[in-house]
Amino acid sequence: MTTASSSEPDTRQSDNRRVLSGMRPTGNLHLGHYHGVLRNWVRMQDDYECFYFVADWHALTTHYDAPQTMNQHVWEMVIDWLAAGVDPEQATLFIQSHVPEHAELHLLLSMVTPLGWLERVPSFKDQQDKLREKDLATYGFLGYPLLQSADILMYRAAHVPVGEDQVPHVELTREIARRFNHFFGRSPKFEQNLTDSIHQMGKKAAKSYHRLRQGFTERGDRDALDQARELVSNQQNISQEQKILLLGHMEGRGITLLPEPAALLTEAAKMPGLDGQKMSKSYHNTIALRDDPKRVEQAIRVMPTDPARVRLTDPGDPEKCPVWQLHQVYSDETTREWVVAGCRAASFGCLECKKPLIDKVLEEQEMIRERARPYEENPSLVREVIANGDARARKVASETMQIVRESVGTVYK
Ligand code: TRP
Ligand code: SF4
Repeated sequence: MTTASSSEPDTRQSDNRRVLSGMRPTGNLHLGHYHGVLRNWVRMQDDYECFYFVADWHALTTHYDAPQTMNQHVWEMVIDWLAAGVDPEQATLFIQSHVPEHAELHLLLSMVTPLGWLERVPSFKDQQDKLREKDLATYGFLGYPLLQSADILMYRAAHVPVGEDQVPHVELTREIARRFNHFFGRSPKFEQNLTDSIHQMGKKAAKSYHRLRQGFTERGDRDALDQARELVSNQQNISQEQKILLLGHMEGRGITLLPEPAALLTEAAKMPGLDGQKMSKSYHNTIALRDDPKRVEQAIRVMPTDPARVRLTDPGDPEKCPVWQLHQVYSDETTREWVVAGCRAASFGCLECKKPLIDKVLEEQEMIRERARPYEENPSLVREVIANGDARARKVASETMQIVRESVGTVYK
């Protein structure tokens, strides 16, 4: 599985290694989540500064009729993340509602969000059609993608790893950021802040900053931009927020209050469910991440195969078999060649074909269960992981909101 950027983050963000992604707590995670999302999260945590969060408010927009399930779903999901190998030492794991700034930013973004932008987000109509039994003609559900924008912009993330269905939400986020910057990025207070920040660097640095900015904005000199970045990041006596301000100003298009993120498209491994359709809770065809090994083995044993293979001597076609799709996720090349040849020549039965697959899945799950065990046995460890992550997230959120509140004019002196 690889990732590809569907759009570019702000150019000034080229040294921004921050990643943000969230997941709704809607029950036990399954192997589709693992191969589609979680393995990607794990891979990214080595190279990026990752923030992963439980999108509990997002879950409420569609599951407001089941508040009693939330508690269990939240903690089980965090255990699933840890079991998948997400490392709380490397990544920041937190719960959305524990950082109320998300709601505040959502509210402030809503001031400049045209209704039409939200009504046009594809998931708005799609989900309403899909979940007909629920009333999703709510204010909260319409605002879902805007809440997501607040999540992303709060951490000034450059990259948002998501599946294809979420790309429109990241696109919306970019547009909202642009609009917000347009309205609030040039307020007099902001200008004052900028002047103060430049001044605070000291005479010499301020002079260099002006010269480099001129070099870049007037002559497009990329070296000047690089030098300015270095100059600003090395300043000792200005804050992180002031550095962001100064770097934003470098590019000349006013000031970047909130930088535009880019979607990092997770090319989802096609994870078939037990019936060959896409693995999904709503199809009741999943293998849970920490499923019981006996159930897993039995479930794969009874999986449907190419219907042409009635008797052992009937040849089959892997392309018509959901088990083959699982082999493509789990088996090495040698095994896959063995499957194709044996299936076409009817040299073994389907049960035989499933054996190496069962071994692989069980082996993978053994590792996952192993990692989960300490957390299952001692829930306070999970609470601790989240308490630490919450604190780290809140620190960044409060920095962002300080800038935002000043920019929208609600800091009174
Ligand atoms: N909407 C996402 C989903 O359903 C979850 C989500 C909420 C999210 N906020 C986010 C994902 C911010 C990425 C970034 O999967
Ligand atoms: Fe499917 Fe394997 Fe049976 Fe062929 S032999 S139909 S690939 S399970």
